[in-house]
Amino acid sequence: MATENAAKRAAGEKAVEYVTDDMVVGLGTGSTVYYFLVKLGERCRAGLKILGVPTSLATERIAREQGIPLADSWAAVDVVVDGADEIDPHLDLIKGMGGALLREKIVAQAAGRMVVIGDEGKLVKRLGTQTPLPVEVLPFGWEATALRLRQLGLAPVLRRQGSEPVLTDNGNYLLECHAGVIDQPRDLAAALEEIAGVVGHGLFLGLATTAVIGSESGVRIIQRPPSLNRGTNP
Ligand code: A5P
Repeated sequence: MATENAAKRAAGEKAVEYVTDDMVVGLGTGSTVYYFLVKLGERCRAGLKILGVPTSLATERIAREQGIPLADSWAAVDVVVDGADEIDPHLDLIKGMGGALLREKIVAQAAGRMVVIGDEGKLVKRLGTQTPLPVEVLPFGWEATALRLRQLGLAPVLRRQGSEPVLTDNGNYLLECHAGVIDQPRDLAAALEEIAGVVGHGLFLGLATTAVIGSESGVRIIQRPPSLNRGTNP
């Protein structure tokens, strides 16, 4: 645990180097991003001039505590720094086990650059290796939506706290979809996006441009292969 936290801290702190004056900065969500926010707050208090766009209510609270100024309105983001649950060799991602996937993807799609941060444990050869795929669904008709997901070969489990469904920041439900290794992530993403009750899913394909991977001994940077263009998937 201490080693994992040191690795997350190393990645989070390094990512601040991608932020410069006058940027609109997407602020991701999660335990790795926390270290980024603390370091970014230090820089803001020392005079760095940026505006942040938080991807969750939790991040908004931390950003305010750390003295990071927030944008009142925004349409484009210069860079977003966010964590991930899995990172494959093309920098395609599974995100959202923290429940913030919808706002995270809106900000990632608005960003000119996405820097994903994590420890070595997040690196996988193929998506679906070690985490379920989170899918955010409307509460209305969620069991019908879950049935559609089962027909795609997924095994959705409603996230609950006690007996009550957990609500996302957007008032929706979260289905953790056990999928096993995902052979064709783009086909799965397209199929998910055809289901009316699905408001977001955790496949972030073609969005991350850079990965900052922390370990006990420091950080290493992985760039998205230049031949792979940024995607536009919802
Ligand atoms: C939040 O919804 C997620 O997408 C997180 O970015 C992801 O779960 C990684 O979180 P940790 O940095 O806490 O592992």
